[in-house]
Amino acid sequence: MKNDIERILIDEAVIQKRLDTLASKIEDEFPAGPIVVIILLKGALVFASDLLRRIPRELSIECLNVASYHGGLESSGKVDFLDRHFPEVKGKHILLLDDILDTGRTLRAVADRLTEEGAAAVHTGVLLAKDKKRAEEVEADYIGFEINDEFVVGYGLDYKGKYRNLPYVGVLKLSAAN
Ligand code: IMP
Ligand code: MG
Repeated sequence: MKNDIERILIDEAVIQKRLDTLASKIEDEFPAGPIVVIILLKGALVFASDLLRRIPRELSIECLNVASYHGGLESSGKVDFLDRHFPEVKGKHILLLDDILDTGRTLRAVADRLTEEGAAAVHTGVLLAKDKKRAEEVEADYIGFEINDEFVVGYGLDYKGKYRNLPYVGVLKLSAAN
């Protein structure tokens, strides 16, 4: 797996340190009361699991399965909701977590759906945000790291289902993307 990585972009210790900062920002800025955390599967799993353990407050966790990438290197432009049931969010304060903000379509579509379903407020957090023009008007409230517009894997992010368990974020070798 390691041989497929061109270079490490953000190492494990740097990620963990940044999560301390993000978690205290969230803890300080969120209005008092419980939070409903919505984790977008599968990419945000690793990020969410490390982040949430740093937030000392009552919260509940919901997971949503959406697909926008369909296994390739480029966004397909369409966001599908894959779950049969949508979590109960009416009147709730939501922290929506994804691995990476790329075109913005995923976060936009899910945030809109949460609002439609009656969420009191939707705050968004991503581990990574690509520095590029987005297809949709959307920015995240909490961003771990801004990165250049290149394809990355690790710490939850995959290429064709692989590399999610790397403890760092790295750039995939072109030869490994086939
Ligand atoms: P968006 O809807 O274009 O913002 O894309 C968000 C989704 O695309 C993320 O949840 C990722 O699953 C996927 N994605 C975008 N860029 C990358 C990348 O560099 N590596 C791995 N997955 C990515
Ligand atoms: Mg994903």
